[in-house]
Amino acid sequence: MNLRSGRLKGKMSDEAASFTSSLEFDKRIFEADIKLNTAHTTMLAKKGIIPSEIADKILKALNELKNEGIGALDLDPSVEDIHMAVENYVTSKIGEVAGFMHTAKSRNDQVATDLRLVLKEEIKGIGFNILKFIEEILDMASEHKETIFVGYTHLQHAQPTTFAHYLLAYANALRRDYERLMDAYKRVDMNPLGSAALTTTSFPIDREMTTELLGFSRIMENSIDGVSSRDFIAETVFSLSMLASTMSKICEELILWSTFEFGVVEISYAYSSTSSIMPQKKNPDVAEIARGKSAILTGELMTILTILKALPYSYNRDLQEITPHLWNSVDNAKEMMNMVRGMLTTIEINKERTAELAKSNFATATELADILVREKNMPFRTAHKIVGRMVTEALENKVSLDDIDSNFLDNVAHEVMGKSLDLNDELIRKALDPYENVKARTVIGGSSPEAVEKVIVSLRTFLNEE
Ligand code: ARG
Repeated sequence: MNLRSGRLKGKMSDEAASFTSSLEFDKRIFEADIKLNTAHTTMLAKKGIIPSEIADKILKALNELKNEGIGALDLDPSVEDIHMAVENYVTSKIGEVAGFMHTAKSRNDQVATDLRLVLKEEIKGIGFNILKFIEEILDMASEHKETIFVGYTHLQHAQPTTFAHYLLAYANALRRDYERLMDAYKRVDMNPLGSAALTTTSFPIDREMTTELLGFSRIMENSIDGVSSRDFIAETVFSLSMLASTMSKICEELILWSTFEFGVVEISYAYSSTSSIMPQKKNPDVAEIARGKSAILTGELMTILTILKALPYSYNRDLQEITPHLWNSVDNAKEMMNMVRGMLTTIEINKERTAELAKSNFATATELADILVREKNMPFRTAHKIVGRMVTEALENKVSLDDIDSNFLDNVAHEVMGKSLDLNDELIRKALDPYENVKARTVIGGSSPEAVEKVIVSLRTFLNEE
């Protein structure tokens, strides 16, 4: 059936047809469109809006199309979109009565509904994979509760921690990425079908029935909103961009940690490349590509928000331009996570190096200041000053952490406050020992093995409940 044979006298130019066609990215909603037409036709017949013999023919043709697959459709750009291609197929099978299928619906509510149907499945799939990834991180964390690691602020040596504690930072970020996506899901899971072009229809359609048949949780209760809104896409893509940002940060750290200078992790050969000229090279290309691809998500989000920004209500064809950016975001997020997951869970940690780093460069100095507060009842600011000065003295005189004792500290204390501290050497040793630092951080969210275990348990409970 040629849509243009009524109001329009001439054919669209070939260029304009291909310029405006959505067929390429509509392939993604092919099955959803059959499902939608099936539900809509079933409802029309049940409500006596179209004759049931005709509905049966339509349903049979739709079922044949489902079995034959998208290859059975004529996807010439002049067809405009998948909705017309499906209708044309049904017409080719049963003749003009196929036209009853489009009673009380428009491509405007159709496309909005199809996109939601497909996106729901995509979100569920991504969500499932995030949970699997968290689970794998927890397994790794359980093995590394005592693996001393060093944490950075400003990318400068900060304080000792454990690799497990570090991994749980990733796991918690991923949990929020998951929850954010699932929250978006609630608003994707709403049915606009029945909005028709924009004001519903005077046919007595049953929107509750199609909502149920299509498996939506809620109906969109304003038809103008139903066909106009794509905020469900914007927030899903935002959630995916945050997920991509989590991935990208993980990649950044793997790239840094696998350098000769850090030497903290070894990335598996399965995720490494070499150089065409430098035979010694082992490059983290997969992490770099993933880090680069995260920008695609940010870009797509901006594109989508910009398309939406000043559109008048209700349907405008601009909305079609959002669709490819949605699918590109979904595909990139999925692919990226798959790679980062494989890469992170196969790294090897160089425990000797991490222990060495945690001891170097006075990463334990905060604990020494804390001990002064506790033992000498001194304000933290004063302790901070004494230890800060002590570190400068040690660095200038090339005194290593192991050589710091009560005498060394007292020399500084005299300078700063005019008296000695007489701190027990044993306490100083303990304060400067990375593992003791870690063990002492028993508060919620801390690095001690017990505090870390509690978070592992809480995240496992979360996984079990999802
Ligand atoms: N291909 C269109 C889209 O993706 C479907 C709706 C077209 N509606 C219309 N009135 N031309 O948005």
